[in-house]
Amino acid sequence: MTAERPPSEVAELPRADTAEHDGIHEEDNKIPTWFNVAFLGTIVFAFVYIIYYTATGWSARGQYEAEVAAADVAAKAAQASQPTTNPYHRNPAAIADGKVVFEQICAACHKADGSGLVGPSLIDPYWKYGNTDEDLFKTVMYGRPGGMPAWGTQLGADKVWRVLAYVETLPKSDVPGLGAPGYQAPGAPATPPPGG
Ligand code: HEC
Repeated sequence: MTAERPPSEVAELPRADTAEHDGIHEEDNKIPTWFNVAFLGTIVFAFVYIIYYTATGWSARGQYEAEVAAADVAAKAAQASQPTTNPYHRNPAAIADGKVVFEQICAACHKADGSGLVGPSLIDPYWKYGNTDEDLFKTVMYGRPGGMPAWGTQLGADKVWRVLAYVETLPKSDVPGLGAPGYQAPGAPATPPPGG
């Protein structure tokens, strides 16, 4: 810090910039070094920036367009990795893989033959959440509120399609009462479960 002049001395200086206005003295202190460094720094930065900007051809518009293009590519890739129809319909190898997964995971709640235990029957004609490929995929990937867990993170989209290809091959049955206790197929007449 530069030592300030005592006001008495300042008042005596005959210079214009020591004039007094409304009782406030203007002083002629030295400009601090940090200020000069910052000031010159902005000038140097401006030249560096101008040269960089004009020489490299960088522009905000170009950056924006590149980002949009990258996002388009990512969105297309994400769509391609989630087909809305099952790529494994009647594909024996995929169905065999799906059978393994079904018996390891799904059978605990839907029974090995798919006729339903805790979870509803997957072989009756009644579907709470629909049975298009897309509906089934969403059910298994993201789960459903009535106790169907989401399997997306554990299995991944590919295995989910395989297990669904296997479910398709299970022999169908529309015997009333199949499925979870109290499971009410939409639009179906109320039927008590067998023996209950
Ligand atoms: C922890 C028990 C449990 C496991 C394991 C389980 N589910 Fe489910 N699942 C359920 C329940 C409960 C429902 C009914 C959800 C509802 O009504 O909201 C259900 C519903 C479904 C439905 C929808 C049925 C409809 O009528 O729309 C499908 C399809 C399905 N599960 C397939 C599977 C597949 C495939 C697997 C194996 C990857 C599996 N589930 C594993 C409990 C389970």
